[in-house]
Amino acid sequence: MSAPNIDTIVSLAKRRGFVFPSSDIYGGLGSAWDYGPLGVELSNNIKQSWWRWLVYERDDIEGIDSSIILNRLVWKYSGHEATFHDPLVDCRECKTRMRADKIEGKCANCGSTNLTEPRNFNMMFRTVLGAAAEEDDPTALAYLRPETAQGIFINFLNVQTTLRRKIPFGIAQIGKSFRNEITPGNFILRTREFEQMEMEYFVKPDAEHLKLVDEWVELYLEWFKSLGISGDNLQLHEVPADELAHYSKRTVDIMYRYFPERPEQERQWEELMGIAYRTDFDLRSHSNKPVDDEGKRVNPDSTEDLSYFDETTKQRFYPHVIEPAAGVNRTVLAVLMDAYSEKTNDKGETRVILRLSPQLAPIKAAILPLAKNKPEIVGMAKAIKRSLQPVLRAVYDDTGGIGKLYARQDEIGTPMCVTVDHQSLEDEAVTVRDRDTWEQERVKVAELADYLQRRLKATSPVQPVAGTSSLEI
Ligand code: GAP
Repeated sequence: MSAPNIDTIVSLAKRRGFVFPSSDIYGGLGSAWDYGPLGVELSNNIKQSWWRWLVYERDDIEGIDSSIILNRLVWKYSGHEATFHDPLVDCRECKTRMRADKIEGKCANCGSTNLTEPRNFNMMFRTVLGAAAEEDDPTALAYLRPETAQGIFINFLNVQTTLRRKIPFGIAQIGKSFRNEITPGNFILRTREFEQMEMEYFVKPDAEHLKLVDEWVELYLEWFKSLGISGDNLQLHEVPADELAHYSKRTVDIMYRYFPERPEQERQWEELMGIAYRTDFDLRSHSNKPVDDEGKRVNPDSTEDLSYFDETTKQRFYPHVIEPAAGVNRTVLAVLMDAYSEKTNDKGETRVILRLSPQLAPIKAAILPLAKNKPEIVGMAKAIKRSLQPVLRAVYDDTGGIGKLYARQDEIGTPMCVTVDHQSLEDEAVTVRDRDTWEQERVKVAELADYLQRRLKATSPVQPVAGTSSLEI
């Protein structure tokens, strides 16, 4: 079972402290969201899983963290200033503003076909740099990055030379990106500020690029499944040639079933991430050597040539790039939707259980005293919580009866509850309750940390084996 719709998750996320509407006390800010204490843990756990999987467990990927605001020329030569726009239309009847490519000729609000002609709207957020800068001073104009990728391309030589990397290798980055979306919405699915996990994988010009795209698609499908997402809710979409981004020769999107309540199959899916073959477009266009048909330098502003010298073949070339680009927020939403389930107890009450993979669960164990008015029990429970803290994320809670406390932890996905009772004072043992089966086991306090760590590991889906590429590249 997964969530019946996004609204179920919006309500759970707000009620239990995962995600709150941003600026709520001032009426909110269209489609901006704040991550609460549990949301930030979940999102950090996803990012850590990704980083571990690509940067630590493989031999061929380095990480970086580049600036959000880059020199404006980066966006000129990346093509974003000229092409990063959506077609915008206004409804002449109800004045609603929409993306023309999402509405099939009819106003999404009132159904009218009396629309303005589509015009291009650049989605990059503008800002001005410097205390004395005027609003319209072109020399002070800068943008908030709309993708993390460009920070990687402009650092290609820095990473390659300082780490003495040979092709093929990749550079990974996690960070915020900003797009002035015309129609944001559907909770954290489409927002103006969001986080990306992008990796640029540099290969030879004659590598099997299209096959490499397939290979990365397979690796990512396995990674999403390792996060607990069901393969039934994942689907591939080959982006048609006329919809490809300006830099792409091929893109495959991994789609998630974010809208299971919709009757038509094809409208149930939305992009979770994309895997693109970006050719040598970016490294070439940021380089100062390439010339046009008339022999003029295409990029007279760059001070570098971002080409690569292959020691074995003694050839110099611009590496080609395979780019898997994933959204943190869309992964958070997919993970939450997929983990959502309901279970009915002996009394016929329906409980929400968030079956998060233990590696992602914000809290790994909750320590609960059976009687909060008994100082010895409370003291023992707090001491156990403190002793677990250095090895795993544990919380102490005594704000309700035990049934209510269990239900609360089930709803936020805590894999294990540890109950301290009267007998614990005698036998130095506690009851460990499993979130998914509700089965209980008695465990000695001295063995508890090892026991919990073993159980958490055993119930986490196996991480995919992510070796270097098996293809001839
Ligand atoms: N560098 C390539 C690139 O940025 P993209 O398909 O535009 O490709 C990659 O973005 C991923 O970033 C998307 O698959 C999605 O997960 C996430 N993303 C893009 N726009 C977003 C938005 N407005 N809100 C939330 N996530 C977004």
